[in-house]
This record gives sequence, C-alpha cells and structure tokens, in this order.
Amino acid sequence: MCHFTVLFHKINAALYTAFMTKARKHSTKLRVFSKGPVVVALMALAFVAPGAQGQEQQPLNASDIADGMRLFQQKGNCQACHGWSGDGHKTDSQMPDGANLRDTKLNRSGLVTIIKCGRPNSQMPAFDKFAYSDGRCYGKKQADLRSYPTRMPDPPSTLQQREIDLIADFLIAKIVGKGPMNHAKCVEFWGSETDACKEFSN
Ligand code: HEC
Repeated sequence: MCHFTVLFHKINAALYTAFMTKARKHSTKLRVFSKGPVVVALMALAFVAPGAQGQEQQPLNASDIADGMRLFQQKGNCQACHGWSGDGHKTDSQMPDGANLRDTKLNRSGLVTIIKCGRPNSQMPAFDKFAYSDGRCYGKKQADLRSYPTRMPDPPSTLQQREIDLIADFLIAKIVGKGPMNHAKCVEFWGSETDACKEFSN
C-alpha cells in the first residue's frame, strides 16, 4: 500500500511538472501571438484616426499649432519659399518659388512625406536627415538623385519626425484648403491685428 502511495505522489508530481511546463510554454506562445492583434489594432487606429485621411481636422491643442507655426517660420524656414501664409508668395526673393500650400491636394500623410523626403527633381528640400541614406524615401539613395536634372537644395535645417508632424498639423489647421488670405483670416492667423494684415483691405 505504502509503495503505491509513494508512486501515486511521484506520478502526481511528474504530471504537475509536465503541466506547468506546458502551461508556461503555452503562455509564452500566447504572449507572442497576442502582439499580432495589438499591432493590427494600432495600425487600424492610425488609418481610422480623423485627420489621417483627407483634410479633416484632428482635435489639436493651440500650443501644438503654435509650435508647428514657429517651426514653419523659423527652423524649417518654409516661408522663405512658400510665403508666411503658405500661398507661394515667398518672403525671400532669392529663394525658389514654393508651391501654394493653401491649394494643395495632399492629405496629412502626403504632406508628411513631402516634408520628410522633399520632391526629387524639384527645389523642395528633404527635411529628414536620413531621407536618402537608407532608402526610407521612395526607396532611393543619394546616388539615385544625381540622375535628376534639378537638384534638391539642402534644407535650412533638418527636422525630427515630431517636428514634421507638428508642421503638418499646423498646415492642416491654418493653411491647407483655407482659400486666399484676407484681412479677417490674417487677423485669425496671427491671433491679432498685425502689420502683415495691413495689406488686406477686405
Ligand atoms: C528652398 C525652397 C523651399 C523650402 C525651404 C521649402 N519648400 Fe516646400 N516646396 C518648394 C518647391 C519649389 C515646391 C514645388 C515642388 C514641385 O515642383 O513640385 C515645394 C513643394 C512643397 C509641397 C508640395 C505641395 C503640393 O501640393 O505638391 C509641400 C507640402 C511643401 N513644399 C511643404 C514645405 C514645408 C512644410 C516646408 C518647411 C518645412 C517647405 N516646404 C520648405 C520649395 C521649398
């Protein structure tokens, strides 16, 4: 009898160990697999989020828009070629003529791509430091750009992804699809009556 009890315990212990090992393996597997749906869900969110498509405005806070505006004016110096209101009336006559961003058909992700990668064979510079070093932009490298007749100028300074996002948000909030500038829009744009608004009579 005694022998049987010991044997019973041994079998029990062995079964227990086997079960736990299996359970642990199983839970590792579960964890590995459970990342899949999370990633898929996050990606789905990214595409569904308002503003990811079209020109729908995201709920942005005023300080982010102000940061984006400052980056557009100063660090990115976008206004040198695109004008302070983005209408293509550049503030620096020595600079190339930038596109009218008020009329652009690009959505938010299109804007982000152009700011990061510039537009090859045009004078729109790439602001991502690594734009043409690892193929992240259109799968092209520096060497590929040499075949274009128009060389992209160097950017006034490179921008981080976060800064590019802020500029894109500013563009969508204040510039893209807003129609030609007028006095009322100018005051709204600057937050108060400014010298820049004097040129608008209406
Ligand atoms: C050196 C001048 C220059 C600077 C600086 C510059 N751009 Fe441009 N940008 C251009 C030119 C030129 C084009 C038109 C390219 C073409 O021929 O398609 C352009 C095109 C664009 C476009 C594409 C518009 C469309 O509808 O196709 C976007 C968006 C844009 N610029 C945003 C910016 C932003 C934002 C900045 C600052 C971070 C900036 N640009 C700085 C010259 C400039």
